[in-house]
Amino acid sequence: MKIATVGKGGSGKTTLAGTLARIFAERGQRIVAIDGDPNPNLALTLGMTPDAADRITYIPPSIMTLVKDEAGNSKLEPTMSNDALMEKFAVRANDGIDLIVMGKPAHGTAGTGCMCSSHRAVRGLIAELTDIGEHTITDMEAGLEHLKRGTARNVDMMLVVAEPYYRSLEAALRTCELARELNIPFVKVVSNKARGEEDRAAIADFCAKHDLEVIGEVPWDEDFAKAEQQGKSPYDHAPTSVGIRAIRDIADRIAALAVPPAVPGSGDGAAARA
Ligand SMILES: Nc1ncnc2c1ncn2[C@@H]1O[C@H](COP(=O)(O)OP(=O)(O)OP(=O)(O)O)[C@@H](O)[C@H]1O
Ligand SMILES: [Mg+2]
Repeated sequence: MKIATVGKGGSGKTTLAGTLARIFAERGQRIVAIDGDPNPNLALTLGMTPDAADRITYIPPSIMTLVKDEAGNSKLEPTMSNDALMEKFAVRANDGIDLIVMGKPAHGTAGTGCMCSSHRAVRGLIAELTDIGEHTITDMEAGLEHLKRGTARNVDMMLVVAEPYYRSLEAALRTCELARELNIPFVKVVSNKARGEEDRAAIADFCAKHDLEVIGEVPWDEDFAKAEQQGKSPYDHAPTSVGIRAIRDIADRIAALAVPPAVPGSGDGAAARA
């Protein structure tokens, strides 16, 4: 299963992606975690130390090149084999998880360059690394721009993290609509940070009204904040906290889903908006 976490800034994408990776790995599954955020921090959530995270070599966006096939369609090609790529760039995080980090494109993003090459590389990598590991889990950049560009077009499941306030829910709805346009087989909302029944119901009711499927509800968890204060991953800080248990339930539900056959039009073809 190729999974991506998406949602508004600060909604909880990295916490979810990193913790899911740890839970699957703890169950003996081989996991490739991809940090697709230009401001990467998945390493810490996977339990790596800040020092080890600082030593990671980021994958340059040039790892994927756009070529034309015989029919003139745009096609992404890796510039090295998967084995070479993993050997050169993957770092071992806790529980045997292989982590690769995209980082920023070389020309920067502060008004000077664009993120196209980086988006393209993430998209290509998600497609290329399918055969390595049982799950790839990609932590995406906040917002919708990468979705409009089809960055996560190659995933099987998009987990849309929603918080209990209006703008987050509206963003989740728009995200789900875009994900469906990309023909992503499983598009599921993860309710996050509800501080009580009213919050929980706000997300659940909104999703029911708009026909969005909620795969799990992660309540507000004080231990997540404490973990951050101590520079630890939530999973290592309190493996049985209420939030981690809720993410375990989500992992169970994901495991129970079979990967459906590929949906026509979901690959990198003429429609690539690279
Ligand atoms: N269920 C929760 N309860 C309490 N705090 C939470 C919960 N989920 C996430 N957080 C906290 O919210 C903050 C943002 O979480 P996280 O970094 O996972 O979000 P993000 O969507 O990846 O953010 P960004 O858009 O900046 O990448 C962190 O401090 C995290 O500990
Ligand atoms: Mg994040």
